[in-house]
Amino acid sequence: MCGIVAYLGAKEAQPILVEGLKRLEYRGYDSAGVALLGSGAIRVKKTSGRISALESILGNFGQGETLGIGHTRWATHGEPNTINAHPHMDYSGKIAVVHNGIIENYETLRTWLRSEGVEFVSDTDTEVVSNLIGYFYNKGDGDEKSGITGGQSRFEWAVQRALREIYGTYGLAILCSDNPNMLIGAKKGSPLILGVGAGEYILASDASAIVEHTTQAIYMSDNEMVVVTPKGFYTKTINNVAVTKDLKEIEFSLDQIELDGFEHHMLKEIFEQPKSLATCMGGRLDPINKRIVLGGIGNHFRDLTRTKRLILTACGTAWHAGLVGEFLFEQLARIPTETEYASEFRYRNPIIEDGTVVVAISQSGETADTLAAVEQAKERGATVLGIVNVVGSSIARNTDAGVYLHVGPEIGVASTKAFTAQVAVLTMLAIELGRRRHISSEDANYLIKEMALIPDKIKKVLEQSAHIKEIAAANLNKNNWLFLGRGLNYPVALEGALKLKEISYIHAEGLPAAEMKHGPIALIADEMPAVFIATAGSQYDKIMGNIEEVRARGGRTIIVGTEGDENIKNHADYLITVPDVPELLQPLLTVVPLQLLAYHAAVLRGHDVDKPRNLAKSVTVE
Ligand code: AGP
Ligand code: GLU
Repeated sequence: MCGIVAYLGAKEAQPILVEGLKRLEYRGYDSAGVALLGSGAIRVKKTSGRISALESILGNFGQGETLGIGHTRWATHGEPNTINAHPHMDYSGKIAVVHNGIIENYETLRTWLRSEGVEFVSDTDTEVVSNLIGYFYNKGDGDEKSGITGGQSRFEWAVQRALREIYGTYGLAILCSDNPNMLIGAKKGSPLILGVGAGEYILASDASAIVEHTTQAIYMSDNEMVVVTPKGFYTKTINNVAVTKDLKEIEFSLDQIELDGFEHHMLKEIFEQPKSLATCMGGRLDPINKRIVLGGIGNHFRDLTRTKRLILTACGTAWHAGLVGEFLFEQLARIPTETEYASEFRYRNPIIEDGTVVVAISQSGETADTLAAVEQAKERGATVLGIVNVVGSSIARNTDAGVYLHVGPEIGVASTKAFTAQVAVLTMLAIELGRRRHISSEDANYLIKEMALIPDKIKKVLEQSAHIKEIAAANLNKNNWLFLGRGLNYPVALEGALKLKEISYIHAEGLPAAEMKHGPIALIADEMPAVFIATAGSQYDKIMGNIEEVRARGGRTIIVGTEGDENIKNHADYLITVPDVPELLQPLLTVVPLQLLAYHAAVLRGHDVDKPRNLAKSVTVE
């Protein structure tokens, strides 16, 4: 979590840092700060709260200074107050650090540094980094009296020396007051990109803080550092071995991350889905040849077709997409499939048999747990594929091959368009594997043709936004909700509940509808709206039974049903309809009204939809 940004160039750094932090604010927003280096000294301004709070105390701070670092925090160690906000200075006042990640051995290092007389002022793990660099910078390490090896500056050496003591994850931007023309970045486990402009450099957690200035960038890898000066930059490992990095083109433009007339990014992203799904499926659906083309994993279809077991691993919303995928792989391709929480998978000593294929699903491509699950699966010899949105992200780079979502940047913390695209990619993959293993090419082609119609059908759901807002308003005082679905719509129920929880702070639970009678039915009362996904399909009659069980106990029902289903009107207190589609494709549609329901409930309750409390967009810590 958290966003870091740093600038070295000819322009004034402070406004560029603040602008960059605003772009990165979705990553974390409990406190923020900047450090500017000029006239041989580093000066820091930081505060608890949002970037707007920082901006209001900055004024002309750092005027004329062209080198600085900034941070927007999502606290892991130490409450989000001003002292714990980044940047953190070292005890000697020479080193300033912004950090994204967790230093796992910070307590050991802090105890040792204290025994050496170093004083700490914050509760963060990060202060260990600044103090450790400061310690080596000021005192050397005994063996290395000068503190300079391999022709590098003492500052570079001290950073390397400190990082070799650190266990954990970091994306770092570091300043040293004795080096007024140098910025150092280092990465392990947290993302870091260096934007390379004309005579200026922007080091940041992601491309959104860079694109305004340049579209050329290098993507740092783990255990690498970059040293930036006005003359240029060079990259090396933290063991001081030179590394050559290619400049890459950043693939998104600024207008993709603007609000475009919408009140919130989340709403914009919900409404973007007809377009984003069309882009995601563009060139991949081939009804003429009755196949699906997924170029990124073309070479791995043989492994996939022969696999005896598929493991899908992900977190949060992406895990829900995985559950939909599990159903489809089993149904269409008859491949035994499990969907694992990445955070559980990585610590479970998982069994990976010969030929197992693991598929990691992630919007950001930076989720620490998912990345660790990828590493774990690779170590055990699995073929690991990625379904990722952010191009060039860590998961995209660390998997054997993959499929990009191609839905553009998702800024709203609550994932929406990434979910539908994840489901679309999984559906396409399952159709193609099904065609090769189990179903006829006619059946596959029927689904391919129907998939192409989904974007237009989503538009019809979006037209009901005002109606869905009324439903949210009518139930706004309800503090506990149930979301119920069967089959493929069970994961959609989980996703509907997650959306409501994370942005409206209303307690919600998603369940397979039939499970309700094994306990949760005790909760049913008018006080607890039950949202049913009861679209036409093989389980329609069953779910109607579940709906009646709720109604018989005085519960109120909000139903997502199929357009033209007259019968369902008699069972719903509130009805939202989706156009008819084959059952296997329903999640692409049925999730949309639930996204809107959560959105409107959150706005009506007065919450900051794009930046819900306690959350951050990319969870780059464990
Ligand atoms: C969804 O709305 C979430 N905020 C969250 O559950 C998210 O899906 C999860 O953290 C996984 O993120 P990723 O797709 O970037 O890996
Ligand atoms: N662990 C650091 C802290 O709590 C950094 C957290 C982050 O990545 O924002 O301050």
